[in-house]
Amino acid sequence: MSVERRQLLKMFAGLGVTSLGASGFGARRVFATPAGDRFPLGVASGSPSSDGFVLWTRLAAQGLRGAANVAWKVFEEGAATPIASGEQEAPAEFGYTIHVEVTGMKPDRWYEYEFATMGAASPRGRTRTVPAHGVATSNMRFAYASCQRFDVGQYWAYAHMAREEPDFVLFLGDYIYERRANAKNAVRPHPVRNARSLEDYRDLYAGYRSDPLLQEMHRVCPWLVTWDDHEVQNNYTGDLSDVADPDFQTLRVAGYRAYYEHMPLRARTMIGALEGLKRDARLRIYDRLDFGSLARLHLLDARQYRTPPLCAPNRKDNAAACVADEASTRQMLGAVQERWLDEGLQQGSDAAWNIIGQQTRFTTDAYPRGEAHRSSADRWDGYPDARKRVIAMIERHAPRRTLIVGGDIHRNWVADVHADQFDVSSPVVAAEFTGTSISSLAGRSQKAMDRDRAINPHCKIANAEHRGYGLVHVTPEETRITLRTVDARAQTQPPLGTLAQLRVRRGQGKAELIG
Ligand SMILES: [Fe+2]
Repeated sequence: MSVERRQLLKMFAGLGVTSLGASGFGARRVFATPAGDRFPLGVASGSPSSDGFVLWTRLAAQGLRGAANVAWKVFEEGAATPIASGEQEAPAEFGYTIHVEVTGMKPDRWYEYEFATMGAASPRGRTRTVPAHGVATSNMRFAYASCQRFDVGQYWAYAHMAREEPDFVLFLGDYIYERRANAKNAVRPHPVRNARSLEDYRDLYAGYRSDPLLQEMHRVCPWLVTWDDHEVQNNYTGDLSDVADPDFQTLRVAGYRAYYEHMPLRARTMIGALEGLKRDARLRIYDRLDFGSLARLHLLDARQYRTPPLCAPNRKDNAAACVADEASTRQMLGAVQERWLDEGLQQGSDAAWNIIGQQTRFTTDAYPRGEAHRSSADRWDGYPDARKRVIAMIERHAPRRTLIVGGDIHRNWVADVHADQFDVSSPVVAAEFTGTSISSLAGRSQKAMDRDRAINPHCKIANAEHRGYGLVHVTPEETRITLRTVDARAQTQPPLGTLAQLRVRRGQGKAELIG
């Protein structure tokens, strides 16, 4: 076992949670593991660097006592003989998940990998390294996605996404939902009614990941991930529950831990997390990645470090006390992460593009009201002051060659980000591409979206009609974004549609509709 994993086990012991999780998954509710299948959730990879990546799997718990040894192998594409191999323990304390951090690989290359334990072999996965920082790079293609509520739709989007062979998937939050939807909207059962424990969160990930289309998308390329609220609880801010849940602190630790266990994240993430959880319950998942000279990706956590909302969420009025203004010091990212982003944009200013992946809609949908409103307190609209600071950073370090991608709203929203967020005559500094969802319902009519579009002059597309994902093709001079659509409610695999194609030219910065 690696030093880091040993350290992790010790830390779990220090938190008094080692006794949790020994029952494993598959024995509960509707998601029974097929007998004899040791790898019922398939394989996954992620957190790529120029010399390695994280490989992930989770064993079925049946018949295991405490821990199992898992062998892993990495291959050149199509090769039969491994170029790297090893063994790692999958302990009950991690829910029998393993995270192998492979190093020593060549940059900008595809690899294959597989696991074996107790005579069973996993499916063979594909993953890749990225080009080293600064190395001339002409192409990058990725898909961005968010919000995959299990019970209200199928994951058809992933069947199409896999065929597009992206370099990686950028997942922007709401990988799971902590509770089931209204039964009248369900097309299949939700794995857990309402998550209240670590076991519940583990069952959620197991249930969601048992979907063959999601599993396959994890198998074919690495994922970069961040979370939003539903990985713990709807609309929580920092360490505050939106519904004054007395058990929220415990739930948050359980939700964060299950997230780490099931995502292809590095041990340093969890070590930082556990150190943080002892002190002030922080799990640092924000991170950055350089893709050669072409792009620097900043993956934010705009959920965990927020200043609480100014008013209770059910307060619908626009009382002065509820209105954020641009001059205040309220935090969306927290001071530390905000400084980290500023430094990262500055250091990455030699990259052709900067791409900021974050959870929620960035630009306002209430332009005429200026800063004096609270229409979307859970989004950046609730933090116009913090948004203003981020815009200023982009303007300083990477103007007109920055893209902001987001999730959360379950609708397509494309907009220009202006230097002054409430004045479209001010220069454009970036372009925003938010949504739609993989399966979660839109929750807003197209008529309302048409109205939004009409009153928000920075907005290019406002559409609530489709589920799907975005495909982004980055080249040094121009980035093309294709908004893909799929009917997630269809019983059999529906065709792939395209809502729009846009481009952003480096130096121009704005989103231009080209088809
Ligand atoms: Fe969502």
